[in-house]
Amino acid sequence: VSQTPFREHREAIEAHIEQVLDSCPYPTSLYDPIRYVMRIGGKRVRPLLVMLAAGTLGRRDTAVLDVAVAVELLHNFTLVHDDIMDRDDVRRGHPTIHSKWDEGTAILAGDALIGVAYRCLSRIEHSEMGELIRTFTDAVVEVCEGQALDKEFEGRDTVTLAEYEDMIARKTGRLLSMSARIGGLAAQGSPQQVDALEAFGAYLGKAFQIQDDLLDYMSTTDALGKAVGSDLAMHKSTFVTLMAKQMLSGNSLMRLNEILANGSPDLVGELQRLLTDGGVLAEGERQVEELVHKAEAALADMPSAEGVSQLLTFANWILRRTF
Ligand code: IPE
Ligand code: IPE
Ligand code: MG
Ligand code: MG
Ligand code: MG
Repeated sequence: VSQTPFREHREAIEAHIEQVLDSCPYPTSLYDPIRYVMRIGGKRVRPLLVMLAAGTLGRRDTAVLDVAVAVELLHNFTLVHDDIMDRDDVRRGHPTIHSKWDEGTAILAGDALIGVAYRCLSRIEHSEMGELIRTFTDAVVEVCEGQALDKEFEGRDTVTLAEYEDMIARKTGRLLSMSARIGGLAAQGSPQQVDALEAFGAYLGKAFQIQDDLLDYMSTTDALGKAVGSDLAMHKSTFVTLMAKQMLSGNSLMRLNEILANGSPDLVGELQRLLTDGGVLAEGERQVEELVHKAEAALADMPSAEGVSQLLTFANWILRRTF
């Protein structure tokens, strides 16, 4: 995470998270796991996006920070429960809550994280509080819809690319588009401005999940801080498997189907070669780049040129991430 830009924003986010954690002392059986997961960190993509979106309107203050941290708390709730659902024992290079403690502890920690997120969001003074809460809540519900579809698809033989795209728009895209939108709302943006920021976040979110799917096969557990091959082991249809089935043929396609049916982590290396040689990796990277360009185009009319340039630097950092 040391390669992360925006050190000043990050420090403000971390300090604000600590302040929120300070208000949660007792009981430790609930708050120790919450402190643990929040302090391990992560890329802080969503709170940065909230702050940088507000920055394109020339705003930055404590209200924006409260909203940013509320979004990060919500994101961590989704991860804690997602790791139970995906049976993943490592996240951010450390044991997940359910493996370090137990499943009940992780379920409750996740529940409390949403509550603390709402507390954080609702303590700001804002003329459009109802709109802020609705925006946030719609995303909470939609992430759950996306997670439900994700699980549904695991048990199915065929998933179309269109179904997959709808699913990732809900499970990942919505949280990023909401981050950008709510940052704009917190900064008192006009309806057109917050719509533009939301569109930016939606493109970025799609690119981000395609990349997450690629990294699940192409990275290393060390670099990712979470297990490589997790999607393979769960026999998941992802952007990568769907593209590979379209792009490969003959023996390569046959071997791909065998590897996907088997799911063993020992086959990740061979799968990486198939994806690279078959052009699937290159096609994924091309699509990620195209989406980031679309995201950039959405920002054409934002008032702060300096703010827009920072948000574009951020998008390009996301585009090049390897973890
Ligand atoms: C992980 O999100 C879940 C996905 C939607 C891919 P991040 O990759 O942003 O996770 P952290 O917060 O940096 O650990
Ligand atoms: C997680 O998707 C999305 C949410 C937590 C809502 P994944 O299951 O692909 O995320 P990772 O790969 O575990 O981070
Ligand atoms: Mg999952
Ligand atoms: Mg997962
Ligand atoms: Mg993943």
